[in-house]
Amino acid sequence: MSDSLRITGGKPLTGEITVRGAKNFVSKAMVAALLGDTPSTLRNVPEIRDVSVVSELLEVHGATVAYDPAQGVLTIDPAKVGAASVGDVSVHAGESRIPILFCGPLLHRLGEAVIPDLGGCMIGGRPVDFHLEILENFGAVAKPVKNGLLLRAPRGLRGIKYRLEYPSVGATEQLLLTAVKAEGITRLENAAVEPEIKDLIDTLQKMGAIISVDTDRSITIEGVTTMHGFDHTALNDRIEAASWASAALATKGDIVVKGAQQRSMAMYLNVFRKVGGEFEVRQDGIRFYHPGGDLNAIAIQTDVHPGFMTDWQQPLVVALTQAKGLSIVHETVYEQRFGFTEALTQMGATIQLYRECLGDTACRFGQRNFLHSAVVNGPTPLHAADIEVPDLRGGFSHLIAALAATGTSTVSGVGVIDRGYESFRDKLTALGAGFE
Ligand code: EPU
Repeated sequence: MSDSLRITGGKPLTGEITVRGAKNFVSKAMVAALLGDTPSTLRNVPEIRDVSVVSELLEVHGATVAYDPAQGVLTIDPAKVGAASVGDVSVHAGESRIPILFCGPLLHRLGEAVIPDLGGCMIGGRPVDFHLEILENFGAVAKPVKNGLLLRAPRGLRGIKYRLEYPSVGATEQLLLTAVKAEGITRLENAAVEPEIKDLIDTLQKMGAIISVDTDRSITIEGVTTMHGFDHTALNDRIEAASWASAALATKGDIVVKGAQQRSMAMYLNVFRKVGGEFEVRQDGIRFYHPGGDLNAIAIQTDVHPGFMTDWQQPLVVALTQAKGLSIVHETVYEQRFGFTEALTQMGATIQLYRECLGDTACRFGQRNFLHSAVVNGPTPLHAADIEVPDLRGGFSHLIAALAATGTSTVSGVGVIDRGYESFRDKLTALGAGFE
């Protein structure tokens, strides 16, 4: 499949598409299957590259994985799981950060695990310091090896009390996947409570774990000695759903996103409405549309759940280039998530980036020289350009920009988008997009 698309924009996207299971849950549930003594079945699994990457990582460790993309059913049998080398893990992980989440389950199962050097990416440094500190607190000992780290748990893993200095999604998942079989009680404060994490907790409970979540971002886990496989249907992908919704807004279109769920998208829906988009919640999904007239400028800041997700930000910014007035977007989750705006500026958008926190509250990045606030002055007509996809969400926003622009753009590097957007080319065709 070609890694670049020639997109002729200026035509509203209209029609119906379907979203399936959430990338950011499915990949973690697949890792959780390693905690069970019997096979697991995950349903509603989308055909995206991250699922293939995690399948390969499981296979490198000896698990048997079978996937039926049409039905969305994936089974994992962990019976023959064994150790893998840093080299094998690196080759199969690619840019993915999932290998670090294998540690808890593998330490319980085998007494050791390896972590390859995980590169940063274009949205920020993305350190793993919380993960390592958590694993070491549980009793793991890390030793540097060529191109990675070897972790061992010579005396087993024991429950901990831990407070996250920032409610990291990955670090919360790390703690959950380790604590469920650690000896004794673990208590986590300032945990991330994203719907994908709640779904992981449901999955672990089905496997035999004992986990309670309080209203104050704290989670208590009572360790158990054995767990079994699960049968679970993944929650739908609220990032993908919002991405198509923003595409409807930016192209003056009308898209029914089957599988979009109101409950997990409440904050996005509020913003969508304030910007001037309209939506109808239906039994099987949500219809998102541009009602005509001007869109409104807005001030938003990204945040952990229940705030406005950082992953909703980039596609929405494209729509904000078409809103009347000054919009302000303060990114508080990643320090460098505005790289994608360079291409939008090239296409005619007026976007200024600032080091200051332009939001209600100062964030961790305010005093640290990161361009993490954006002011978008609209509406500005977008014109075609040749642009290069920077990362997954930035890449999808580039597609939207090209679809909203007049003329024919060449968007290269679109293969990255396959990591998290199932059959996006087929969906573009279904919505009447002009591309080849
Ligand atoms: N952080 C640290 N130290 C750590 C871990 C995180 O400083 O040890 C910082 C990060 O650098 C970042 C912040 O904490 O500034 C939040 O990171 P978090 O750990 O919450 O993110 P993640 O688990 O690495 C997941 C999703 C991201 C999504 C974030 C926030 C997956 C595979 N990835 O990443 O999704 O943006 O949570 O919701 O679940 C995407 O889908 O495109 C994507 C990037």
